[in-house]
Amino acid sequence: MRGPPIDECASILFERGGVRPEVHIVLGSGLGGVAERMEDAVAVPFGDLPGFPEASVSGHEGCFLIGRIEGTPVLLQSGRFHFYEGFGAEIVAAPVRVGRALGAGTLFLTNASGGIRSDLAPGALMLVDDHINLGFQAPLAGPVHPGEERFPDMSRPYDGELMAFAEEVALAARIRLTRGVYGWVGGPNFETPAEVLALRAAGADVVGMSTVPEAIVARARGQRVLAISVVTNRAAGLGLEVVDHEEVMAWGAVAGEKVAVLLEELVPLLGHR
Ligand code: HPA
Repeated sequence: MRGPPIDECASILFERGGVRPEVHIVLGSGLGGVAERMEDAVAVPFGDLPGFPEASVSGHEGCFLIGRIEGTPVLLQSGRFHFYEGFGAEIVAAPVRVGRALGAGTLFLTNASGGIRSDLAPGALMLVDDHINLGFQAPLAGPVHPGEERFPDMSRPYDGELMAFAEEVALAARIRLTRGVYGWVGGPNFETPAEVLALRAAGADVVGMSTVPEAIVARARGQRVLAISVVTNRAAGLGLEVVDHEEVMAWGAVAGEKVAVLLEELVPLLGHR
């Protein structure tokens, strides 16, 4: 199946935004506040790009913002497409492909997740240093796109130098940021307690429903990837409460402030140098 025309979408974004972004930032659930930190932002709704559906999950805004953060040109993506919405690989992967076609050398992913490791309570931030694909979906399934590899290496999915920058910035800002493994599930239902125990046994420190497809596509295109997970709840069976989307959004907003502080300091280090 053919996806959106990537180069055409990138041209539209360039014409409207007027800059070539160096960093593509994807905002997860509840993290929309980061958009307020942008300078000279031009908004382009997903629906303005040929082949792009409108985004539908509440709390996801469904647009690109092109502008600058601390002087560095960025493409900020508010909202994303998930397999659980019924979209195929070409749609889920399209925003990353468009960001790369526009010129972004770095993809900075954020997401909300359920904490599995005991120190990852709601409000904690985790630097994703590896992932496990338990969604069993392949975002690269289908014809090979120009500039992508058929069998991309995934032995270092998240960039070591960029992770070190993130840790330096977090330390200076007194924000706790520990490394860990993100376990990706397809969703949209949250997990059962037995599934969470299985995820823990498999080596996952948090569980979430995004990020991994995008990271895989970015690696296939030779982009550097950095990902930060905002823990919004204890994973099912580990806390006292049931897992609830409203709670996820509320903690996303609280921890989103910390992510915004990190982003302001980090983005200039992630641009082309
Ligand atoms: N599970 C899966 N995805 C999530 C969770 C969770 O507990 N919290 C936020 N996103």
